[in-house]
Amino acid sequence: MMDDSSFVYRFEPGSRVGAPPLLLLHGTGGDENDLLQLGAMISRGSALLSPRGRVLEHGMPRFFRRLAEGVFDEEDVRKRALELGAFVESARQRHGIEAPVAVGFSNGANIAAALLLIKPDALAGAVLLRAMVPLSDPPRARLDGKPVLILSGQADPIVPAGNAARLSALLSDGGANVVHKTVPAGHQLSEADVRLAREWIAGVDAQVAYPSTGVQCQKSTMS
Ligand code: MLT
Repeated sequence: MMDDSSFVYRFEPGSRVGAPPLLLLHGTGGDENDLLQLGAMISRGSALLSPRGRVLEHGMPRFFRRLAEGVFDEEDVRKRALELGAFVESARQRHGIEAPVAVGFSNGANIAAALLLIKPDALAGAVLLRAMVPLSDPPRARLDGKPVLILSGQADPIVPAGNAARLSALLSDGGANVVHKTVPAGHQLSEADVRLAREWIAGVDAQVAYPSTGVQCQKSTMS
């Protein structure tokens, strides 16, 4: 599908009442098909909304421009996060879904973190797989108990441990209910990621109410 903000995307309707819709955000060089299987594995019956990043780096789709590995064009990060927020809003209306929980990997996790900081209302929560701090001078976000799971790789050559810890602190300072865990893996995903994400979403699933008028997030008790 293609929406009016020109995102190519896939949408799979939900099949289980109360399952949180997921916004799937792929890594560099991925596309809208990449994370559909992961989404189905970590949250049975969730609606899946999966856009393709609109920035091309040597032909590889991404969600924002970078100047070098781990060095981001922050003006572009801000602009693209707002574009993604507008896409989510129009997709919610078109497909009749509540605010989604983002599930982002690598570059997709970084744009999800930026979206949380810049337009927190766009998301009900987020699973950030191998995420970094996306902005050096982020706005003071009001995350009001929003549930966030960060999964870092112990031997990740791209994301330094201190950077992921800073992201966790930044989101916690904004009021998010952050669970940050490190798995025995590198930058690529492992079985531990799938298991931990599934368990965490099940906890959020039980505690996030999706009334017809909007999304109400309560504190996750998972630690
Ligand atoms: C990024 O550019 O978002 C990060 O360096 C992760 C990556 O895509 O390699």
